[in-house]
Amino acid sequence: MSYDLVIIGGGPGGYNAAIRAGQLGLKTAIIESRGKLGGTCLNVGCIPSKALLHASEFYEAAAKTFPSMGVKITGLSLDLPQMLKQKEDAVDGLTKGVEFLMRKNKVDYVKGFGRIAGAGKVEVTGPDGAKQTLETKNILIATGSVPTPLPGIEIDEERVVTSTGALSLNAVPGKMIVIGAGVIGLELGSVWRRLGSEVTVVEFLDKITPTMDNEISTAFQRTLKKQGMKFELGHKVTSVEKLSNGLSVTIEPAKGGQARTLEADVVLVAIGRKPFTEGLGLETVGVQTDARGFIPNDHFKTNVEGVYVIGDVTTGPMLAHKAEDEGIAAAQIIAGQWGHVNYDVIPNVIYTDPEVASVGKTEEELKAAGVEYKVGKFPMMANSRARTNHETEGLVKVLEDVATKRVVGVHMVGTGVGEMIGEVCVAMEFGASAEDIARTCHAHPTMSEAIKEAAKGVDGWTMQA
Ligand code: FAD
Ligand code: NAI
Repeated sequence: MSYDLVIIGGGPGGYNAAIRAGQLGLKTAIIESRGKLGGTCLNVGCIPSKALLHASEFYEAAAKTFPSMGVKITGLSLDLPQMLKQKEDAVDGLTKGVEFLMRKNKVDYVKGFGRIAGAGKVEVTGPDGAKQTLETKNILIATGSVPTPLPGIEIDEERVVTSTGALSLNAVPGKMIVIGAGVIGLELGSVWRRLGSEVTVVEFLDKITPTMDNEISTAFQRTLKKQGMKFELGHKVTSVEKLSNGLSVTIEPAKGGQARTLEADVVLVAIGRKPFTEGLGLETVGVQTDARGFIPNDHFKTNVEGVYVIGDVTTGPMLAHKAEDEGIAAAQIIAGQWGHVNYDVIPNVIYTDPEVASVGKTEEELKAAGVEYKVGKFPMMANSRARTNHETEGLVKVLEDVATKRVVGVHMVGTGVGEMIGEVCVAMEFGASAEDIARTCHAHPTMSEAIKEAAKGVDGWTMQA
């Protein structure tokens, strides 16, 4: 078989590149080894985690928020098998949808493990062990990432789990210890806390979500604490001992000091993810990796002619929408068109309740870069829709560069802010000032009016607070 493009990896990076390549008339094949398309995101990442976050949010709201709204439920109980089933149904439906999209765009879906076998050659080992070689003008590496292990701590995906195990626990753990206060730890920790676990998060650094704007991170942690999540910041886990009746977890201060032991039924290791290139045959053509194992790129090109790279396996944030946009841009470049990703406008959302959404620079980054900036803020407490909905936690913060008069960062905590961040991304792509946002009519009553009020605040004329 001879192709214009062979894509290795069927995640959001790979499958979106395949669709775009198919649309542009490139003869394309996509190779995936897990038996289903959709990658980490659809199978064991974004989609199943959001299915559990959504369902567990309803469960907690039914117990804690409904009564204050005059909705009484007697005999409320958790049907965990059904909650897990509806999650699997969402995954199945979406992965089949991606397979349909491959057929629709005339992309060959080749099941098996892909290995670069020399210039223009990709060898695929199928599920039955049979090998075939695909000839191609271009190769796109989209092999994604896997959880980073913690040395000395053995994962069994039942009691000591990564995110994959934490998405399928068959009982609610009495006590859960989460190692790492990043996105996975806080999202999946929230799921199990809502379902009844006592959750303690152990974080090496002195703040949660370390790359986030400090003020937002502090507000977010305050909210999570109020919800009952416990934190051991500035601590590291040194061992996890498996006992017949639970786990004994030893932690000690990151800067040195007295060790302590905590009990747990389940430990979730969520200390980051690492690029996956095992068995990929990079050495056969000389594709280079950096010290951390990422394949660097220049406009999605590796150091080898005709070999491209996108998504988690290359540099930049490990996010599905970043992988998707890179896939589209790479496919367009391979087809002889232009392709570009604006890394200054990639939104980040944490899908807890309240959600956290941000795009662009944090205050700390602007200070470090010596950029003169103005800030506008607005508390959700003063937004009429938030008050009406009993969803008053959080704030919106808008940062504008004084010299260019452009919005360079927006950071929000609040219910539904993950949907609201899209407006800000469009504004930033069009080079908007805070005043542009402030003078754009927003529907009333909506939470998005909080963005408008915060934008007014940049020039000192916030009206509703
Ligand atoms: P992947 O999705 O990892 O796909 C790579 C695919 O390549 C895999 O299916 C793998 O089996 C396959 N593969 C690897 N090597 C080979 C080979 N040699 N041959 C054949 N196939 C191969 N991001 C968000 O933006 N929003 C979220 O809400 C979100 N939630 C997440 C929740 C969790 C629990 C996790 C773990 C991640 C989450 N992410 C989220 C991150 C997101 O899943 C990744 O950024 C995204 O999947 C990266 O896409 P990718 O295409 O680069 O790689
Ligand atoms: P992360 O990088 O977000 O957080 C890891 C945390 O673990 C950091 O706070 C770090 O300081 C801490 N840490 C590292 N080593 C430690 C140790 N030994 N002991 C204690 N703490 C330690 O990584 P996470 O949460 O594993 O997520 C991986 C990737 O998946 C992220 O890059 C994220 O972008 C993506 N993701 C995105 C989601 C979203 O967009 N909503 C949801 C889930 C994952």
